[in-house]
Amino acid sequence: MADVRTTTLPDAKTAPEAPPSPVHVTIRREDYRPPEWLVPEIALKFALGIEKTRVQSKLSVERNPDSADKSNVLRLNGDGLTPAGVWIDGSPCDNWSMDGGDLLLELPGDRHEIGIDVEINPAANTKLMGLYASNGMLCTQCEAEGFRRITFFPDRPDVLSKYRVRMEGDASRFPVLLSNGNRVAAGEAGDGAHWAEWHDPFPKPSYLFALVAGDLKPNRDTFTTLSGRKVDLAIWVREVDLPKTQHAMDSLKLAMAWDEKVYGREYDLDQFNIVAVTDFNMGAMENKSLNIFNSAYVLADQDTATDADFDNIARVVAHEYFHNWSGDRVTCRDWFQLSLKEGFTVFRDQSFSADVGSPPVKRIEDVRVLRAVQFPEDQGPLAHPVRPDSYMEISNFYTATVYNKGAEVIRMFHTVLGPENFRKGTDLYFDRNDGRAATCDDFVAALEDGSGVDLQPFKIWYSQAGTPKVRARIEHDAEAKIATLHLEQHVDPTPGQPDKQPMPIPLRTALVGSETGHEICPERLIILDQARQSVTFENVTEPPLLSINRNFSAPIIVEAVRSPGELERLAQADTDPFARYEAMQELMMRALVAGARGEEVDREPVIRAIGATLRSNSLDPAFKADAILLPSDSLIADRMDVVDPDAIHAVREQLRSAIGSELHDELVAAHRSDGAAGDDLSPSAKGVRRLRTVALGFVAAADQAEAAELAKAQFDRADSMTDRQGALGVLVSTDTPQRQAALNAFYDRFHDDPLVLDKWFALQAASQRPDTVDRVLELSRHFDFVITNPNRLRSLAGTFGANHWAFHSADGRGYAFLADMIIAADKLNPQVAARLVPPFGRWRRFEPKRAAMMRQQLERIAATPGLSKDVYEQVTKSLA
Ligand code: PHE
Ligand code: ZN
Repeated sequence: MADVRTTTLPDAKTAPEAPPSPVHVTIRREDYRPPEWLVPEIALKFALGIEKTRVQSKLSVERNPDSADKSNVLRLNGDGLTPAGVWIDGSPCDNWSMDGGDLLLELPGDRHEIGIDVEINPAANTKLMGLYASNGMLCTQCEAEGFRRITFFPDRPDVLSKYRVRMEGDASRFPVLLSNGNRVAAGEAGDGAHWAEWHDPFPKPSYLFALVAGDLKPNRDTFTTLSGRKVDLAIWVREVDLPKTQHAMDSLKLAMAWDEKVYGREYDLDQFNIVAVTDFNMGAMENKSLNIFNSAYVLADQDTATDADFDNIARVVAHEYFHNWSGDRVTCRDWFQLSLKEGFTVFRDQSFSADVGSPPVKRIEDVRVLRAVQFPEDQGPLAHPVRPDSYMEISNFYTATVYNKGAEVIRMFHTVLGPENFRKGTDLYFDRNDGRAATCDDFVAALEDGSGVDLQPFKIWYSQAGTPKVRARIEHDAEAKIATLHLEQHVDPTPGQPDKQPMPIPLRTALVGSETGHEICPERLIILDQARQSVTFENVTEPPLLSINRNFSAPIIVEAVRSPGELERLAQADTDPFARYEAMQELMMRALVAGARGEEVDREPVIRAIGATLRSNSLDPAFKADAILLPSDSLIADRMDVVDPDAIHAVREQLRSAIGSELHDELVAAHRSDGAAGDDLSPSAKGVRRLRTVALGFVAAADQAEAAELAKAQFDRADSMTDRQGALGVLVSTDTPQRQAALNAFYDRFHDDPLVLDKWFALQAASQRPDTVDRVLELSRHFDFVITNPNRLRSLAGTFGANHWAFHSADGRGYAFLADMIIAADKLNPQVAARLVPPFGRWRRFEPKRAAMMRQQLERIAATPGLSKDVYEQVTKSLA
């Protein structure tokens, strides 16, 4: 029936809503007050239609005994709603008033029943917040403030209610009707309509409400909990997609068992449902017992999904499932506490993925994400603490700082306490706060009380923004056999925080003998909590090499005094795999930064280290692939005082080309290595495939013609999307006849599969050719480019914004293109548009010509009439 275009593109009469008032208020954490009124129960009745849905609500409201305010006005949040009828205790009420989008009611007593009718148009909802239409079905997204687009309600996470939901709709259009909790009744309603009623016994905040109605089919399974309760599981998708749901189901069952084993958390209802939707602003959403997913994180088979897609599905399925405890049973008091659920849940999903895969490879990947996304956040105009102090639009705070740095903070607690004490702390946390809306302070208090360890000094990680830089230098007294480690820490100012305090930094540290290569001082945990500090090591029998911040024990930047020779030695000898990776990265980074500054580059240590890694018999292929990958253009840029993207790109390509020719035979051998059938999803098979493509990339840097032949062969013979996409990813940056042939073949085969077509757009937007901007402009006019679909928009504009060399093209056309995209997308979906702004935020660090052009584009966006609060906040903060 209705496809993506017809259901999500606005037409004349369903045009986007009027622009919000230009005065955007700042909400502050210090202004938190408990709610004046509570809503212990809510009943909702939906008469569903794609273009017209009627919502009738009944709220039982009562004064909150914990609130000091005793006014008799009840404020119910609304966004774009008009009451069609209001009742108080059964009698029609007409002395209601509106304040902005909110509904104000005067209530004489302490306890009342409020009835409200509204009508909404899901098809016109291009923001994809609230109730919206996607691919012919209806679904909801309420976090953070979407519920107020469905009905009037105190839409804040510290108001918890028991929900009863009745929905009615056309049985052929909406054969499946789902909501939170248990389905308690269902029946026919005449005229081809049917209805269902759902009860959720667990009180929950409005952001966890969910409803789905559509023509969906289930992949069903069951899980028996530790205490022997049987849970019915279902993953709901369009019928054609059913064969692609098994990996998500397997991941779900693994995650359920893992949470029982590692955290003692059992599932608590008889049903658990996952629904895949085509149009979704984020990855997925943890609505109680009815998780709604971006289809990209559900659907996979060998032919259409890469190994990375499979891993991401497992990660996101686990993440949303884990939220049942860290998010739903214990939720957040206010949105400033977002990291309470997100940081903790990311830490939990990271640990899960490590346990079911390879821990060092997973750790490298987590750190790579942190450095690529969170470090730039911390260094730019949008820097904010893990627990922010203020916001204009909360949607802008679903950031890598809140999620990934938040997870690093939890990981530091885990490191400092050790696994047993950490578990005592989390048990106490869940116990104490079950059914409550809690704060980050409550979390730390439970860890302290459970473990008996004082964690107060660590709380500064929640409040102080910025990435600490730690200088380290080791001094060896050969005669006394003593080594002294001198440490210094420093945090640069961030917006609103000019002066920084020293932070407690847990550093796993060991010393490796520079002659023997042995670990001469075993790993110990140093807590650096002063601005300067020295630590001594005894019995240091040979000149030591410093192995510090092992396994990335703290989310910091280490500036250690170590020569290239020492790094090269550590890259081979360090017993901590992460530290080995790190030594390689540092070795490469030094060469690249020197080259970008126009200094002489000594490539030999880098090439020797990569050669030794490739030839090693003991390292696994996935680790090899990680270790030999050069730092990206943007990571190099982060180390420069004045960024010249062309210089960075040139020096990186030269180094890649030198590696490609000097290590040609090793690389081709790694490329040819087999033992990885397409259906083999073991960590080692994934590693072989990874290394195959990474090696090919180096060969291409040295000899495009040779690489194009190898790549085309890999492409044509591929028995998995991993090999196919890997080959195409290499070809797409070459200037060879195979390039266009492969792109066309890929399009012809997969243009009906939206998730694979996203890859086709993304690969071209990531291309390292001089004509990428032209190609991307062309693609934005392509038949299949659908700006209302967030995945498609991100695959083109989001990927392009992260393509350092192309986005920063010297003529400024990359900037103009992304700004145009932001302006166009903002009229439809402000949340997604605002997420495209950050690449502009770093303008101050670029050479003057580019800095001026970037700033101009920010100013152009800022001057656009009717700009959303979302984009307004990001753009004005970027300019400030
Ligand atoms: N809470 C979701 C998660 O991280 C993310 C999300 C936020 C989804 C806002 C939709 C909207 O699991
Ligand atoms: Zn989450």
